[in-house]
Amino acid sequence: MDKEKLQEIIDKYDTESGKLLGILEDIQRTEGYLPKDSLIYVSKHLNVPLSKLYSLATFYSFFNLQPVGKHIITVCMGTACHVKGAPHILETIEELLGISPGETTSNGKFMLTTSDKQFTVNTARCFGACSMAPVIRVDGKIYGYNTPKKVAEILKKYGWRGK
Ligand code: FES
Repeated sequence: MDKEKLQEIIDKYDTESGKLLGILEDIQRTEGYLPKDSLIYVSKHLNVPLSKLYSLATFYSFFNLQPVGKHIITVCMGTACHVKGAPHILETIEELLGISPGETTSNGKFMLTTSDKQFTVNTARCFGACSMAPVIRVDGKIYGYNTPKKVAEILKKYGWRGK
């Protein structure tokens, strides 16, 4: 690639938002989420409005404004998975883990965390694995063709000890 093209790419990402995203990513990588105190510190230190940091944190779905559990379970609620029973899979997971349905975090995302902080459950729109519907993802690993029984077996792999 010639230097002109490279410079074009560098310039594209060498923006204030690009820099802020990198900082937020590093904080989340370290803390598992974006603590309010950290956002206030970054805001003051870089002289950036706190509202700008919150707007970035809420725009990008991978940022969490609340602490998350050790294992993250994401249930696909896209059309193919929905038709094949995703709502029932989500209810089963909530019931097995003993968490209440229907809560959202401060940035509007559906997210539930068990009281022992072992599991966080959230939802997504499509993993691109529709042929295996209904699909869930645990810590980045995709599991397809789920049934309530299969979900219980998957949870056991991640330390769930049963009801
Ligand atoms: S709709 Fe669930 S993987 Fe596509």
